[in-house]
Amino acid sequence: MSKRWYSEHRRDPWRRKAKSSGYRARSAYKLLQCQEKFNLIREGDTILDIGSHPGGWSQVAVELGGEEGRVIGIDLKPCEPIPGAELIVGDITEEGTQNILLDMLDGEPIHAIVSDISPGLTGQYEMDQAISLDLVCMVMDFSLPLLNPGGSFVTKVFQGRGIEAVVKAAKNRFSKVQRFSPVASRNSSSEVYLVCRNKLPKVRGGGKQTIRESVEAELAEQGYITDGVEEKDSTAHGRTGFTVHKSRKE
Ligand SMILES: C[S@@+](CC[C@H](N)C(=O)[O-])C[C@H]1O[C@@H](n2cnc3c(N)ncnc32)[C@H](O)[C@@H]1O
Repeated sequence: MSKRWYSEHRRDPWRRKAKSSGYRARSAYKLLQCQEKFNLIREGDTILDIGSHPGGWSQVAVELGGEEGRVIGIDLKPCEPIPGAELIVGDITEEGTQNILLDMLDGEPIHAIVSDISPGLTGQYEMDQAISLDLVCMVMDFSLPLLNPGGSFVTKVFQGRGIEAVVKAAKNRFSKVQRFSPVASRNSSSEVYLVCRNKLPKVRGGGKQTIRESVEAELAEQGYITDGVEEKDSTAHGRTGFTVHKSRKE
């Protein structure tokens, strides 16, 4: 580990705060700051935490949902047990994992979905941003139909190509959609949270396209190739099949 990483790590006030408060990750404060500003989670809510490892957001969700609440976390990686949370190990984009969740819910509606999902980063921003965008679209397409009307959804996104299309798709599904950068996000970070409140009972405009399809269509319109140019990414937790959108100008 580099000296720079080590000294930044030690100086990070959110990491120290998380450690002293018993949160497993500094990211717990990002959800707390979203909650403070937007009041996304209420007592008694059923909350789905997508990309939950090591468990900081699930810990916060358990606190906010209270005694009557229910928290289900999903991640590729196993978490140490979190009192009050049910944890699924699996890939949210795979049918097997989705079926486990559906069985656990047994028709029970979800009141809030919080997703801090992030692929294994390659360090190449454009590729990481494209992979993350794809993942976010798949998460939204699967999970939003499970969210109760009036419910809230928050997801991490990386700034860049296609984000406007995601915002547009979200605005067709929620009455309030805002981008928010919690103070606990590092200054250098290009991550931002898309906060969506009050899910509409029906998708505006009929919603015939999935979110992924509408984002792809918008990227094609903007002149970015989506016609079968795919790069298989083998670094994102061994996943394959993410579409990397290549600029025509490249
Ligand atoms: C930034 S971490 C989440 C931190 C968490 N919010 C916390 O407070 O502890 C992002 C997580 O997304 C998970 N992830 C990435 N792709 C996934 C997928 N397809 N299905 C489930 N989890 C995924 C990663 O394993 C990683 O643990």
